[in-house]
Amino acid sequence: MTQEYIESNKSKFLDELMELLTIPSVSADLSFKDDVLKAATFLCDQLTQIGADKVQLFPTEGHPIVYGEKIISSDAPTVLVYGHYDVQPADPYELWDSEPFKPEIRKTKIHPDGAIFARGACDDKGQMFMHLKAFEAMYKTNNLNCNVKFMLEGEEEVGSENLEKFVREYCDMLKADVVLVSDTGIINNQTPSICVGLRGLSYLEVEVTGPNRDLHSGLYGGGVANPINILSSMIASLHDESGKINIPEFYKNVLVVSEEERQEMSKAPFNLDEYKKDLDVDDVFGEEGYSTNERTSIRPSLDVNGIWGGYIGEGAKTVLPSKAYAKISMRLVPNQSSEEITRLFERHFKRIAPAHVKVKVTPHHGGEGVVIPTNFKGYQAAKKAMHKTFGVNPIPVRSGGSIPIVPMFEEVLGLKTILLGFGLDSDVIHSPNEHFGLFNFYKGIETIPYFYQYFAELTKE
Ligand code: BES
Ligand code: MN
Ligand code: MN
Repeated sequence: MTQEYIESNKSKFLDELMELLTIPSVSADLSFKDDVLKAATFLCDQLTQIGADKVQLFPTEGHPIVYGEKIISSDAPTVLVYGHYDVQPADPYELWDSEPFKPEIRKTKIHPDGAIFARGACDDKGQMFMHLKAFEAMYKTNNLNCNVKFMLEGEEEVGSENLEKFVREYCDMLKADVVLVSDTGIINNQTPSICVGLRGLSYLEVEVTGPNRDLHSGLYGGGVANPINILSSMIASLHDESGKINIPEFYKNVLVVSEEERQEMSKAPFNLDEYKKDLDVDDVFGEEGYSTNERTSIRPSLDVNGIWGGYIGEGAKTVLPSKAYAKISMRLVPNQSSEEITRLFERHFKRIAPAHVKVKVTPHHGGEGVVIPTNFKGYQAAKKAMHKTFGVNPIPVRSGGSIPIVPMFEEVLGLKTILLGFGLDSDVIHSPNEHFGLFNFYKGIETIPYFYQYFAELTKE
């Protein structure tokens, strides 16, 4: 019944998602604040339409949180659905083949049935919306067998700062048995996987100051340290020749993954040649002794996200700049504390700064890594659900991305999270031409009701 409802409402579901995707709910840029609110209001209306109760928009110091629920019975287990309706900025606009907030459906090699191109199509509006439509299908056909609580936020892409406060304040309202999130991916459309690990994050900005003003690079060059030169060599020194991060004590708490588990992980299909070809690089790079997949999941990393200073306009300007800047992020693995790593970085960076410059370090947001066990009912239900709709068992995979609220759910609500994502790495989230396959959108809507069904069955046992 539920599946028939889905089958006959596919084009309605798609139209509704397209409408949501036209709203530029960019959380990072306050000039879009009204649009973020518009997206929140759209979701409140949706939740009301599909039958949710207690639908409410909770204002925060930043962007609002949308809540709605359906309690069918105090005996039924409760699923807390989390998703985010904010999106990354769409820049650079000129690299998009169609406008980021005018969703367009196009076929691709990987998505022969078509994919929706729009900012947020995959991360996370498209994936979040699957949950609303799966709920609609279950509820309208009288097949809902779990209580459902929706918590949809508008600040995930900027660090979820107000969500933690909200969760602490409303922990009674949010009581549940499991958290269900679709904000990750699968290996490919024939090879389903469930994300069982996320990396933590420590993000900061550094400012290196040399002379008190920009100088003529002829009159002063060679006699005064150039902060861009200095910053570059400081950054270069943050990795050693074996690809390890050169910050004292950086690795001290890193959870070591057993040989057996690494063996198990290496069974997930991965083709290094295709990976290199896709990225147009002749070789990969990373920490010695680890595979590419390990380097991006069970090992931490450090990357410069942006670097600037001096003259970058047209033509040449012979300047010896006063300041140089960089944004640096470190992806962390379980047991590394984001706060501590930020401290270690700051201490080290100040220590290696030569006397010729002054260094300022400003921490941004962060979050902890997480590993999700596979031996509890939530995971079993997700596995069965994917087996049902893909015809094969999903592979547990650790991802390199971060969703800082997942460990927070565990800490504050005592709940484990199931990361039942349907995106593909090739959907280029955060980049120009982000898209989400129609196959993936519908597969998600079809799979989610089975999760509810199996989760209810398993919790009864
Ligand atoms: N949905 C992503 C994270 C993700 C994507 C995890 C794919 C696993 C697979 C999320 O919206 C995101 O972009 N997170 C940020 C961190 C956040 C604090 C800005 C990230 O990972 O950079
Ligand atoms: Mn996301
Ligand atoms: Mn994101």
